[in-house]
Amino acid sequence: MAGPIPELEERATECARRLADADRVLLASHIDADGLTSAAIASQALERAGIPFETVFEKQLDADAIAEIASTEYDTVLFTDFGSGQLDEITVHEDEGAFTPIIADHHQPADSETHYHLNPLLFGIDGASELSGAGASYVLARALADVSEQPTERTMTTDGGAAAARADNRDLAALAVVGAVGDMQASGGELHGANEQIVAEGVDAGVIETSTDLALYGKQTRPLPKLLEYATDVRIPGVSGSERGALSFLDDLDLELKRTGGGDNTGTGTSTSTGDGNWRRWAELSDDEKQTVASALVKRAVSRGVPASKIDQLVGTAYVLSEEPVGTELRDASEFSTLLNATARYDRADVGLGVCLGDRDKALDRARTLLRDHRRNLSNGIELVTEEGVTHAEHVQWFHAEDRIRETIVGIVAGMAMGNAGISRSKPIIAFADKRDASGSDAPDRNDSEKREQTQDVKVSARATHSLTRQGLDLSVVMGEVARAVGGDGGGHNVAAGATVPKGEERAFVDRADELVGDQLS
Ligand code: C5P
Ligand code: C5P
Ligand code: C5P
Ligand code: ZN
Repeated sequence: MAGPIPELEERATECARRLADADRVLLASHIDADGLTSAAIASQALERAGIPFETVFEKQLDADAIAEIASTEYDTVLFTDFGSGQLDEITVHEDEGAFTPIIADHHQPADSETHYHLNPLLFGIDGASELSGAGASYVLARALADVSEQPTERTMTTDGGAAAARADNRDLAALAVVGAVGDMQASGGELHGANEQIVAEGVDAGVIETSTDLALYGKQTRPLPKLLEYATDVRIPGVSGSERGALSFLDDLDLELKRTGGGDNTGTGTSTSTGDGNWRRWAELSDDEKQTVASALVKRAVSRGVPASKIDQLVGTAYVLSEEPVGTELRDASEFSTLLNATARYDRADVGLGVCLGDRDKALDRARTLLRDHRRNLSNGIELVTEEGVTHAEHVQWFHAEDRIRETIVGIVAGMAMGNAGISRSKPIIAFADKRDASGSDAPDRNDSEKREQTQDVKVSARATHSLTRQGLDLSVVMGEVARAVGGDGGGHNVAAGATVPKGEERAFVDRADELVGDQLS
């Protein structure tokens, strides 16, 4: 049977055969939306193939983490959404016979090779915009179904299509789409290349629906006024950023946009004291109503001089998980991915994995609570950066959040703040945040100066736009080279990358990065 991405087929099959030969597998994945969906895809594929496994998550796959993995009894380790960038470390353990690595990743590979390495970049597919870690894991899952010849569940129901999709793992395409969207691969409003082929399989399997729709975040769960007020990607003058503006815009439309009977029936607990809960959500509107609101938005934008190229960005492809209930975060790929980041980036990957694997009770409740905190942290972070401003070098701009923004979300904040007042979209942004001491710098018996000494490393996150990468920018190279030059390490993608460097090297880091970015863009 043909896999979704012909270029990857042969390697995926080799990796799948190796997994099928293993007595048991240690599955190691990255702690973000893409890493969680990767793990969820891989674990379901292993389970269906009857291969015993255990799952672990790592914030970063550094030398210590790899050594710990090597010290386990497992002979076969499946790395998803990381591993390529750490190949030099991994192959040391492989050569010593500690384990056989199988890697399904999309990050820039380090200068080493290993046999079971499934990465789009090795086959001419862009790992930053055409295939995510979850996408690579999906390709592997499809191959695993093939080599292990999963029995088609015999059902006498009309559910034959769904059973067939499960039998060849095509139902897992929904999670692959969430991973790709979570890694912000939907540029220009839609997914491209290999990702599109996965979308097509998901549509075919009945787990994904696509439509041309308003490209705003929160179509499933945000009350309409909030959907418009918080729309920051495309600013609509008088509406974006203004609660009153959004309310009066909606009141002026001749539509019944409040719920009759009142109350919040989505179970998402988003109703607030200002009565947001009485407003309908975008996803509940009829096509005609959506059309009316969208036209009014476009008209407002045109009349206030928003350029046509910006107005185009108001519309994009929506990826809907058709089996999930309307009005929940799980139905919209973008909201689903944010829900997952809200768990994994706060040391609760177990919660996000539970949600991906279908736990709609305890895990989902917990995830929603974490999401409220995540949103507050993002909005506080964006406010902090916007108010304090960034420092502009010639080719880059930067800020240091110290301990005021969590290192695991400082990159998301930096990306979302781009375009705000004083924060340019025509230069990459570099963000620093203190690393929290894993050994517990919060211990009450340490005084402040001791605590400060404990913070020896700084997290660096860099973000850019696809328009800059088209001009030659590659942040994974910048983060890697500059970090190594100052005694740290880093990597990632051309458009989004990160590093860890020793505290005190921030200035040197910015100077070198500024120079290298200048070279890349010249
Ligand atoms: O490690 P991983 O590849 O999963 O993480 C990619 C990160 O890069 C995500 O946090 C995503 O939000 C970010 N990103 C971005 N802008 C892009 C592409 C990715 O901020 N255009
Ligand atoms: O948190 P995550 O990296 O998944 O966010 C992806 C994108 O979703 C952000 O860049 C932003 O455009 C949007 N978002 C938002 N409001 C939130 C969370 C995410 O608009 N509360
Ligand atoms: O942590 P952050 O969201 O800034 O990461 C952006 C991208 O850079 C992710 O794809 C992440 O996996 C990668 N990264 C890396 N090495 C690091 C830090 C981040 O490859 N030391
Ligand atoms: Zn990823």
